[in-house]
Amino acid sequence: MKQITIGLLGLGTVGSGVITILKNHQDKLIHQVGCPIHVKKILIQDIEKERRVQVDSSLFTKNVEEIIHDPEIDVVIEVMGGIEETRSILLQALESKKHIVTANKDLMAVYGPELLTKATEHGCDLFYEASVAGGIPILRSLVDGLASDRITKMMGIVNGTTNFILTKMSNNGSSYEEVLQEAQRLGYAEADPTSDVEGIDAARKMAIMSTLGFSMNINLQDVNVEGITGISEEDLNYSKRLGYTMKLIGMANRNGEKVEVSVQPTLLPDKHPLAAVQDEYNAVYVYGEAVGETMFYGPGAGSLPTATAVVSDLVGIMKNMRLGVNGRSSVSPQYEKKLKSDKEIFSKYFLRIHVKDQVGAFAKITTLFSERGVSFEKILQLPLKDEKIAEIVLVTHSASLFDYKEILLQLSDLEVIQQVKSSYRVEG
Ligand code: NAP
Ligand code: HSE
Repeated sequence: MKQITIGLLGLGTVGSGVITILKNHQDKLIHQVGCPIHVKKILIQDIEKERRVQVDSSLFTKNVEEIIHDPEIDVVIEVMGGIEETRSILLQALESKKHIVTANKDLMAVYGPELLTKATEHGCDLFYEASVAGGIPILRSLVDGLASDRITKMMGIVNGTTNFILTKMSNNGSSYEEVLQEAQRLGYAEADPTSDVEGIDAARKMAIMSTLGFSMNINLQDVNVEGITGISEEDLNYSKRLGYTMKLIGMANRNGEKVEVSVQPTLLPDKHPLAAVQDEYNAVYVYGEAVGETMFYGPGAGSLPTATAVVSDLVGIMKNMRLGVNGRSSVSPQYEKKLKSDKEIFSKYFLRIHVKDQVGAFAKITTLFSERGVSFEKILQLPLKDEKIAEIVLVTHSASLFDYKEILLQLSDLEVIQQVKSSYRVEG
């Protein structure tokens, strides 16, 4: 091979990082893959836009056909985002026998199996390391590094934007809107940050990780999702007061043949290692039957960290090209999907309620819990400005999700309850 030729789809946060790494690490890359890497065309929307990196403007195109049907282009790097249009572009690129690198979890969480099948049919590689946890090589670790083990649990912080927001809100008392804007300015947030703050981005990543880790086809609909938009300053203050740190936690758990996958705001004991993961950083615990506990930590978003994963995938493709083994590394899921029912999912819970301050009110509440065999680990009762209402904060011992949901339903019907203000999972 004299050189490898790339078509780059997108020159935003990640695309600019890819150009920077290809330029700055050129010598190392040539040494690893044995030839220079040449970017021939770059797909963008706005030709006039100022770019973060210096690129010869003759490389720009608004016509994707110039990339996917160019016989000289070996690899298409997709860092433009989007789902339907991008799926169609990548399917055509695979039909034209282009290898693919993508950072697009939105796409892979929905159309991953279809695209991987197509890639195998056409003898192409399709790698997507950057789609989960930015610069952390977590997918390769699950598939290759832990290939000999049986993974039972994956738990972590897999969205940089929400971790950045929660860190700044908790540590500096900054407002949600202000920090979200900063995360957007720094290039951590998605084009539409709703998917970050509503937990959808993290859920897509958990679907991708659990599909690979559990070798089972887990899709977005299988993930129980709750985002961070409902978290109030009061919740953050109470969690601190009780010795917890609030994080958006992705959890994938396997017991026997059954799995549960969720993304939800969770109170972590302050001493929990994930509680110390700040700003846009991500961290994932992976538990294997043989290896025990492993932890992966690093920047979960941003231009250069994410681009590192993208370019490493490119190196993987080029090594496969030299060996003539492209399109052979994807393994289809081994197990049929079996999801746990609510009766099989257990956790502790934090609950903040406003209660009419009257004799017997608390007894009525505790009766509901004790009837379902759920006891309390912590209880706080504080007066509010309105003297007729008390604020009660409870942390339960472990309860099934089924029992806890039933209790929440019955609580809202209790005459003494003015409002259930918030409820979160508690780890530990
Ligand atoms: P971005 O900054 O918004 O950049 C997107 C780029 O794609 C822009 O250059 C844009 O062109 C181009 N583009 C978008 N739609 C297009 C279309 N229909 N036709 C032609 N060009 C189009 O996005 P990003 O943050 O780099 O993210 C890119 C992908 O990486 C997404 O899938 C994202 O989920 C994923 N990702 C991002 C991060 C991160 O930290 N940002 C981390 C991991 C994964 P113009 O510049 O002309 O507008
Ligand atoms: N918006 C994503 C995040 C980018 O904040 O984690 C990295 O996937």
